[in-house]
Amino acid sequence: MKICVVGSGYVGLVTGACLADFGMAVTGVDKDAAKIAALLRGEIPIYEPGLEEIVEKNVRAGRLRFTTELASAIREARAVFIAVGTPPLPDGRADLSFVRQVAESIGDNLNGYKVIVTKSTVPVGTGQMVENTVRERSGGGQEFAVVSNPEFLREGSAIEDFLEPDRVVVGARTQRAVDVMLDIYGPLKAAGVPFVVANVESAEMIKYASNGFLATKISFINEVAEICEAVGADVEVVARGMGLDSRIGPKFLHPGPGFGGSCFPKDTRAVAQIAEQHGKRFEIIDAVLSANDRVQRRMIEKVDQAFGGLAGKTVALLGLAFKGDTDDMRESPAIPVIEGLVDRGAAVRAFDPAAMSAARAMVPALPPITYCQDAYEAATGADGVVIATEWNQFRALDLAELRSRLKSPLLVDLRNLYQPLRVAAEGFRYVSLGRADAAPEGSRG
Ligand code: UDX
Repeated sequence: MKICVVGSGYVGLVTGACLADFGMAVTGVDKDAAKIAALLRGEIPIYEPGLEEIVEKNVRAGRLRFTTELASAIREARAVFIAVGTPPLPDGRADLSFVRQVAESIGDNLNGYKVIVTKSTVPVGTGQMVENTVRERSGGGQEFAVVSNPEFLREGSAIEDFLEPDRVVVGARTQRAVDVMLDIYGPLKAAGVPFVVANVESAEMIKYASNGFLATKISFINEVAEICEAVGADVEVVARGMGLDSRIGPKFLHPGPGFGGSCFPKDTRAVAQIAEQHGKRFEIIDAVLSANDRVQRRMIEKVDQAFGGLAGKTVALLGLAFKGDTDDMRESPAIPVIEGLVDRGAAVRAFDPAAMSAARAMVPALPPITYCQDAYEAATGADGVVIATEWNQFRALDLAELRSRLKSPLLVDLRNLYQPLRVAAEGFRYVSLGRADAAPEGSRG
């Protein structure tokens, strides 16, 4: 089957490459000529483990190609996936202008039955908007179906999430459209992956409700961590004790500096907006958003206290990306930490394995910081280290080497990557989330 994937950003590239891997003939389209030229040269514009290999393999097999020519790609295709950006507007609503433009082009080029699939996270009701737009532009002479097929890809494990999903959600109005989707996802169906077939509105809502719930879980454990500090409990044990209850589950119970990224902040704000537009309130999500802001501010206080004030201090910051295994800086919780530190008079020496060029590009949105080659260079001459991102390489730091570079042996771990006693045994004062601070024996008080 011929498939056109419009938008060669994160979701579009992963979707296109994986569908080609399922044996589909995929054309990836983007209006950004430089991006398409890079893809044609075999350069992948984003950092995602495994993506380059799967793109290369399917391009070589002739199942995946890239173009800026939207009209012809639409005309050839049986299914058109819309995977363009839906950036947040200043009031939190999703900007649907790119989705609308693609729907217009599909309408202009509708030359036979097509299934139009929205992959981008879009407000409930967008499927209907796409349907109306395509019908208007095509003059109503051709049949088509609009399907909502939300993605649940996590950055850093997107390929695995696509090829081995917990479920596939298909929102459609007709069986004919569902059948086309089942053909496309044949290998997943054969592997026993559950399919949730719903109407378009329910499918759109599943995405928002899922992301809202996961964000709630993170904010929940972040607030539990704060209370653990006050009562002398250990959040890691508490999270494990909670997570073993199969009704709760262990995932997304890791305390941190607040959730960031391209999805959770945007989707939680958007679902709160959707509720409001319908005269409702999503009170839990409102609370999650304000808890996430507060957690981010609390991190600055924590670092300030650990350093005994920040004015004139130098902080080695390990991690800039919003989470490990990505170069993505969007809504990274490291940003408010940096702003807070610089505001209070500290100098920041930062290292991130993948996100430094994205961070450099954020000037002037990000205050000036010194970028370093590795964790040890960042620590050289600093008054302490702050870990902000859960990169695996930060779990395996050479603590003796790190300590030898620092002016004073302080490690503030905003991701709880280490066992407090182990770090203290290496001569560090160790401050983490939801756990008692640790210090080398004999150094307390
Ligand atoms: C998320 C969803 O998981 C995915 O299904 C959806 O399609 C897009 O949004 P992503 O943004 O890539 O994926 O990252 P995710 O791994 O979910 O983490 C989001 C944020 O929450 C990160 O800042 C991460 O560090 C933080 N997080 C996650 C925690 O602080 N604690 C956790 O236990 C889990």
